[in-house]
Amino acid sequence: MSYVDLHCHLLPGLDDGAATWDDALRHARRLHAEGVRDVACTPHVKRDEFPGVPIRELDERVAEAQRAVTGAGLAIRLHAGAELAHPDALLLPEPDLERIAQGPRGRRWLLLECPFEGLDDDFALAFRRLQGLGYGLLLAHPERSAGLLTGDGLGRLRPLVAQGALLQVNVCSLLGNHGLDAQDAAVCLVREGLAFCLASDGHPGSREQTLQLGFHLLLRAGASSTQAYRLTQANPRLLLRDGVTRPLVDLERALAAAA
Ligand SMILES: [Fe+2]
Repeated sequence: MSYVDLHCHLLPGLDDGAATWDDALRHARRLHAEGVRDVACTPHVKRDEFPGVPIRELDERVAEAQRAVTGAGLAIRLHAGAELAHPDALLLPEPDLERIAQGPRGRRWLLLECPFEGLDDDFALAFRRLQGLGYGLLLAHPERSAGLLTGDGLGRLRPLVAQGALLQVNVCSLLGNHGLDAQDAAVCLVREGLAFCLASDGHPGSREQTLQLGFHLLLRAGASSTQAYRLTQANPRLLLRDGVTRPLVDLERALAAAA
């Protein structure tokens, strides 16, 4: 297996992820042993809680981590990114957004964190700002947002998916570690075909399950082996390599203009 994990707090000393280089390397060894071959390093860009994350230095931090991982003999490719909170998405200058975006030029995308409090109007505003700037959006752990199934969350999420949003579900949600509501919602997103990929949202030291377990949890949740392969390997690899196509809303405008 060659799993691709697009959401992991592997870089040490930045947020609530790895505390030290020892923690980061220990976790990297587990990732390697469990077949994870590509890992996006996605520290929180959430200045209310983690004001010290140095957006302009993240590329160099990832390069430093790559040297350490390679030096330890681990066959893991690291990729620079971030998990962007929606209040920051509304305010961050465009050059900083570009620094944390992933994918090839013209097909860039951002990992946007779904708020635990629920998908509110501010989240939709942040979504529209980023999409208006030309970014594709991978929405991190929508199943953890309050009221996804029990409130109007799914009703708010579906229009975003129709506009091109891709959904990333957490391994730990399928495992039940984020509570029954999040587990039910994760299973629902998988079974309805709404989930685009699974990721660990790994936090070395506190949340260490990898996509190897995630693959088996997908099967247990009712996914076929083909769907589990797509969610843990093919789809996230596609995002890394090819990025996203233009948002659907822009495509519609372009078609209307061409008519
Ligand atoms: Fe995260």
